[in-house]
Amino acid sequence: MRFAVLATLTLGSLLASASPPPTRVERGAPQSNIHHISPPFPPGFKPVLPPPVGRKPVSPSKLPTPTVRLDLASVEGTYDGHTHSYLGIPYAQAPVGHLRFSAPVANSPYTGKINATAFGNICYNFVSPQPPFPTWITPEQLQFLEVFDTPAPAPSSEDCLNINVITPTSAKPGSRLPVVAYIFFGAFEFGGAFDVDGRNMVKRSVELGEPVIFVSMNHRLGPLGWLGGKEIKDVKQETSVSRIREALRWIQRYIIQFGGDPTKVTLLGLSSGGVSAALQTVYNNGNTEGLFHALWAESGAIQPVGWIDAPQPQAAYNTYVASVGCSDAKDTLLCLRQAPVDAVTNVNALTSVWTPHADGSVISDLPQTLLTEGHVAKIPVVAGNAEDEGTLFALNIPDITNDMEFIELVMEAYFRNISSADAETLLQMYPNDPAQGAPYGTGDDFQYTLMHKRFASFAGDTGVDAVRRFFTQQMSAHSNVWAYYYKRFYVPGFGSTHASELPDMYQSGNLQDIFIHFANTLDPNGATNVTQNWPKYDTSNPVLLEFTRNTTPSLTNDTYREAAIEFLIEMGQKMPWPI
Ligand SMILES: *[C@@H]1O[C@H](CO)[C@@H](O)[C@H](O)[C@H]1NC(C)=O
Ligand SMILES: *[C@@H]1O[C@H](CO)[C@@H](O)[C@H](O)[C@H]1NC(C)=O
Ligand SMILES: *[C@@H]1O[C@H](CO)[C@@H](O)[C@H](O)[C@H]1NC(C)=O
Ligand SMILES: *[C@@H]1O[C@H](CO)[C@@H](O)[C@H](O)[C@H]1NC(C)=O
Repeated sequence: MRFAVLATLTLGSLLASASPPPTRVERGAPQSNIHHISPPFPPGFKPVLPPPVGRKPVSPSKLPTPTVRLDLASVEGTYDGHTHSYLGIPYAQAPVGHLRFSAPVANSPYTGKINATAFGNICYNFVSPQPPFPTWITPEQLQFLEVFDTPAPAPSSEDCLNINVITPTSAKPGSRLPVVAYIFFGAFEFGGAFDVDGRNMVKRSVELGEPVIFVSMNHRLGPLGWLGGKEIKDVKQETSVSRIREALRWIQRYIIQFGGDPTKVTLLGLSSGGVSAALQTVYNNGNTEGLFHALWAESGAIQPVGWIDAPQPQAAYNTYVASVGCSDAKDTLLCLRQAPVDAVTNVNALTSVWTPHADGSVISDLPQTLLTEGHVAKIPVVAGNAEDEGTLFALNIPDITNDMEFIELVMEAYFRNISSADAETLLQMYPNDPAQGAPYGTGDDFQYTLMHKRFASFAGDTGVDAVRRFFTQQMSAHSNVWAYYYKRFYVPGFGSTHASELPDMYQSGNLQDIFIHFANTLDPNGATNVTQNWPKYDTSNPVLLEFTRNTTPSLTNDTYREAAIEFLIEMGQKMPWPI
């Protein structure tokens, strides 16, 4: 194990980030998957889900080389028979030397010939140790977990602020096609812009006659992306929320050259990517700077988090400084900037998780407060979540046996300072009854440990469902909002868990078709072969489009576990998560 972290902290990290369990460690060489999953498939076993949605290599051939002009440079991409890909273009100065732990700086004008035929370096991944998979895990569940295990296509490096652009082959300067700005998932700690294959969406968009350009950007992770502390607060725009912003500025400057329309940019993200995308709506108190025009957030939105210099992130800063060997420095940040890259990436004393916070500059107040006070971009939004989000987060919970231990876990993960009255309410809202737990609607089945389904229900509702419901409730006061509920792909024991819509969105499916239509028209209604009308979300009539195993989506009311989730929303408002 690279990182000596208590399993309990890993748990907190997973829950707080509303993110899946990392299953691999990427450092240095590509494809160094320490935790690569090789499930023992029985003969004739049919996977429940398609294979991972990562990009397949283009076999070398004599296909023509697509080229775009950026500034004085000629950028060479690849052609796979359906799309053009321009990969690994730097969008900001390398964040090295004095730019380490600094605000992003725009790229210098491009000159010469730029080889954009392969992915650029990925940012360093920081993955907490994964406890062994529980003994009850099934081949189907292992198969599903592979969606988080796309091998990295390039080495990791600090010099990783690069962007990928995938276009229809017909796109050329002046085409003005809608642009999808995709922000990758991975708990703010792992993964990269390669984690889904954007070519599927571009190819499909052409088939639908609604062509889009797919852009994905790498940004820094773990302490290099999300370090807290007053020292970091003093460096304005230091976190990756600003690096993502810088990538959006790059899109404004350059996307027209690829055939994109800089006035039609839709943010898209799942899990921590959805959180990051949603944070852009409260960045600069909701001033979009004209950089984006719509948002589609999957299982991640504005989370109730605290200040960057609160005791928790400050302690994380101090511990990080010590682990790099900078505790005695007069200027600890300068010491961090001057430390060898191995020292700042080989973190063996994580004490906290690395996630977004209020920073007093670009995120001027608690994000949840900015949202409730209306300091938010008034743009069309689609936000949704899956039915059984929390089954993934409960994968490795300790074996809790009574109410007291349950509340201890609740406090550790989310509500550090819960009052005894609120704890009582919580125990009633989430009773120790497997039939009411997650995966939902499965009676007493899949209760892997004594309180497994109870905790899965609580964790999914707190980390994702309440966050989504709060976001759609608040945003619908300002702009057009549509919300969905995803219960299509189903893995026994997991149900329709966190990220289960990945194949439907990023390989093929009417979820993807609806998204493409939304990126084109800013309205998810009217997509090809989808007849169900999708009404706008309204707090007096909160409707969800429900994706069931049936190919035709239908409507349902957003009132499931209404009192419990409302209680969780209130808890989040009065008590930011301890991250
Ligand atoms: C571009 O980069 C790729 C990947 O590094 C390499 O295989 C290829 O030879 C390069 N092409 C040119 C023209 O340099
Ligand atoms: C915990 O809650 C109590 C009562 O509301 C409050 O006085 C105390 O300051 C809180 N402690 C922390 C660490 O937030
Ligand atoms: C729409 O549905 C019809 C009937 O199932 C099918 O033939 C057609 O290919 C679909 N269109 C698209 C663009 O998928
Ligand atoms: C939603 O609730 C309203 C009022 O309770 C009810 O009239 C309507 O039929 C419900 N809609 C759906 C799709 O269940």
